Amino acid sequence: MIEKKSRTLEQDNLSDVNLSIRLYISCNSQLRTHIVTQYSLNVNGKNHVIDADGNTPLLYILRGELDIKSTKYGCGTELCGACRILVDGNLLFACTLLLKDADKTIITTVEGLTEGNKPGALQQAFLDINAGQCGYCLAGILITADKLLEENRSPDRREIQLALDGHLCRCGAHNRIIKAIQSVAESDDD
Ligand code: FES
Ligand code: FES
Repeated sequence: MIEKKSRTLEQDNLSDVNLSIRLYISCNSQLRTHIVTQYSLNVNGKNHVIDADGNTPLLYILRGELDIKSTKYGCGTELCGACRILVDGNLLFACTLLLKDADKTIITTVEGLTEGNKPGALQQAFLDINAGQCGYCLAGILITADKLLEENRSPDRREIQLALDGHLCRCGAHNRIIKAIQSVAESDDD
């Protein structure tokens, strides 16, 4: 009776081992499927094919694979706006947008706002007013401001404040940033 019971335990242990091996093989092959997937992105007018895990946040692809370092990591949770980009014309957060969800999209980062090799009008206004301090927040803010001006050529101060609501500037440069945006809005009216 005791012998029979110990054989049953051995069999149980063996089936546990078999189950673990099967799970390991299954997880491993799923992992490999993720890693070898290819994605295509158009970033600031250039096409890229990316081999990466589709669950990678787009921010890591932009910074790590494409060397676009303007787009910043701040909070990783859609709270600071440092990573904001345009995806097919929509304002999104690169820190939470997954690569697989950005496949075959057109992406604009702050580099895409330049005119030839020169700063665009909005970027020049930020430079002229010396709007930033450390500059960490500016790439995201410029993208949001560009989108705002595309939709509303003459936003008033309140409308600009509302648009920038999701952006944190740790240096407290908001007043100068709003002034820079207003200066472009006003010059558009000329
Ligand atoms: S890093 Fe994306 S919102 Fe803060
Ligand atoms: S200028 Fe430093 S965080 Fe905005």
